[in-house]
Amino acid sequence: MDNFNFYSPTEFVFGRGRETECGRYVRKFGGSKVLIHYGGGSAVKSGLLTKVKASLDAEGISYEELGGVQPNPRDTLVYKGIDLCRSRGIDFILAVGGGSVIDSAKAIAMGVCYDGDFWDFYCGKSRIEKALPVGVVLTIAAAGSEGSGNSVITKEEGMIKRGAGSDNIRPRFSVLDPELTCTLPAYQTACGATDIMAHVFERYFTNTKEVEITDRLCEAVLITMVRETPRVIKDPNNYEARANIMWAGTVAHNGIVGVGRSQDWNSHGLEHELSGLYDCAHGAGLAVIMPSWMEFVYKHDVMRFAQMAERVFGCAMHYDDPESTAVEGIKRFREFLHSIGMPINFAELGASEEDIPVLVEKLGVGDGKRWGFVQLSAEDCAEIYRIAARASL
Ligand code: NZQ
Ligand code: ZN
Repeated sequence: MDNFNFYSPTEFVFGRGRETECGRYVRKFGGSKVLIHYGGGSAVKSGLLTKVKASLDAEGISYEELGGVQPNPRDTLVYKGIDLCRSRGIDFILAVGGGSVIDSAKAIAMGVCYDGDFWDFYCGKSRIEKALPVGVVLTIAAAGSEGSGNSVITKEEGMIKRGAGSDNIRPRFSVLDPELTCTLPAYQTACGATDIMAHVFERYFTNTKEVEITDRLCEAVLITMVRETPRVIKDPNNYEARANIMWAGTVAHNGIVGVGRSQDWNSHGLEHELSGLYDCAHGAGLAVIMPSWMEFVYKHDVMRFAQMAERVFGCAMHYDDPESTAVEGIKRFREFLHSIGMPINFAELGASEEDIPVLVEKLGVGDGKRWGFVQLSAEDCAEIYRIAARASL
């Protein structure tokens, strides 16, 4: 196991009806003038926003509102949010929504405390030293942004999607009420489940040896997702299954299952170009990319893939031919994604094989290699996109 620090200071406030307490937590973490940030309307329609405002009112906390965050959140709204916070003396940002809203809130939070252009953090020009505190009321189990130190924003000009990260932007608190996710359409539920599984796989496929504890934690999250996702697709109001998925989503991406081991993140990198170019859901893009990446790299460590196949998907381990077990596991993963309604190739995603040179160009690998479980050249990335374009069951 490698040396590590693990710092995850978010207070998680979990359970039915807990969103009515968000005012108390804003106060606890020093907020007195809040920006309530939300998305395209689901939080208004469900009545959640009304509850959040009532909770702030009960604490005597004043607020401004900024809605309209779109999936794959844009830089343009972030600039608007930064201006609003500065002009109104906002000292706390409350994100009410999913990963897109939370990431936009984090971007505003860091931008307000920075003299330059906030995009500097996303193109590697500057490090995040300071940010306004962010709180979260989560409405979809997916991105894990409620516990992560990351934010992913799309620059509208050129549709360039990039991430920035720092412990300074980890939310101070996150309210996780599984009931709030019952209104999700099945497609969004499945996109979220795929993202959760991808966050674990990106950590599971490691070159670090002897990491039994984190292997087993990863497998626990994956097995939970394989069991619970079909239950909520069938019955969207299944609270217990929603609850298991919600906590799985947080655990998958707050860092705990990946400590002390090298990680990958190339599937995410390749996917971000898809959702950047086509504006598709991140989870749907991952459903197309992740099994294709697996097919491309599994020979690097056949036993690790065979272990995943056996422990997560219950495939028989063929000790005389572990490659067949590994291949079966990848096949079962793709079949699982298809069974929950996810696309499995470019056509189903709305992508075109003709765009592969553009996707690879935007990745910016050049003559170098992308670091990971297997280092990838530009041609390797093109080949993974080709596998994804032509994938079938
Ligand atoms: O905008 P509204 O109306 O709220 O609708 C949203 C949106 O259309 C809807 N939705 C959310 N909660 C709902 C609901 N509809 C009905 N009932 C509810 N309870 O779902 C749609 C998707 O929302 P979004 O926030 O985009 O989903 P998600 O949480 O999957 O976030 C995706 C974004 O997170 C980034 C992705 O790249 C993508 O931009 N990621 C962020 C990460 C991080 N910060 O750590 C890591 C991830 O790997 C990921 O890259
Ligand atoms: Zn993700």
